[in-house]
Amino acid sequence: MSAQIIDGKKIASEIKSELKPRIEALTQKGATPFLTAVLVGNDPASEQYVRMKAKACSRIGIKSKVINMPENTPEDELLELVGELNNDTEVHGILVQLPLPEHIDQLKINLAMRTDKDVDGFHPVNLGRLMLGKPLFSPATPLGILELLNRSGNNPGGKHTVVLGRGDLVGRPFSVLASLKEINANSTVTICHSGTKNIGDYIKQADILICAMGRPEMITGEMLKPGVVIIDAGTSAVDDPSAKKGYRIAGDVHFESAKEVAGFITPVPGGVGPMTIAMLLSNTVDAAERLAENHDGS
Ligand code: GUN
Repeated sequence: MSAQIIDGKKIASEIKSELKPRIEALTQKGATPFLTAVLVGNDPASEQYVRMKAKACSRIGIKSKVINMPENTPEDELLELVGELNNDTEVHGILVQLPLPEHIDQLKINLAMRTDKDVDGFHPVNLGRLMLGKPLFSPATPLGILELLNRSGNNPGGKHTVVLGRGDLVGRPFSVLASLKEINANSTVTICHSGTKNIGDYIKQADILICAMGRPEMITGEMLKPGVVIIDAGTSAVDDPSAKKGYRIAGDVHFESAKEVAGFITPVPGGVGPMTIAMLLSNTVDAAERLAENHDGS
């Protein structure tokens, strides 16, 4: 048996096509969606992510701007910039790329952002709304994972979804999103982490396995229940002398052995990554529509 590959690039491109008429309608009203991304420092991976996000915007008609700030930017200055973007009526979505330098308190930055422009969904109010089942913006990677499941014919309703990893960006918010009483969710969720005893017992029971640990290729075929649906959100750089850059990006799953046991599996790259970008664009269009509506009504 060999698993069906869930093609994240293709699904992301479907989602982006669906956004186009909404973007055109906003543009006709003079309210072209506008995302501003802020990048502090020169982390090469973050630089690449931000570049990819801006490129994806321009491809579908969303305006975008990247603001680069030096690594030693004082926290106050970043807070001031967020304040300016909050008040800029042209800007619909604000994104501050993570991780931030150590001297900047990420929570303070998230708290400073207008909740209705927080297209990453990281403001505590937006995370709280998700917890209450009344989300305004949900984080892009968890949203993308849910779309990958539903659009590949693997609605998680009634299934046992095991989430490996409890990080703020993926594991924890996904576990909440997938357990909501919604038609695209409604799953029975177990969240495993570094404190879980006998983690293999849980992995073996999973109908759906979400891997968000950042431990390269730790999950191998013999650990899995036959037919399991695997979504791999891991992105670790591992040394690879045969690669041009000297490293490659590996997921949490050992793809070659897992695909012989799983029913469905996402590749790395080409699985979750493109979906994170598609859902960020979708959140930006939602933001622009909501802000345009409020503007019309005022
Ligand atoms: N760093 C890694 N993933 C993300 C993300 O989804 N948003 C932001 N702002 N930073 C990140």
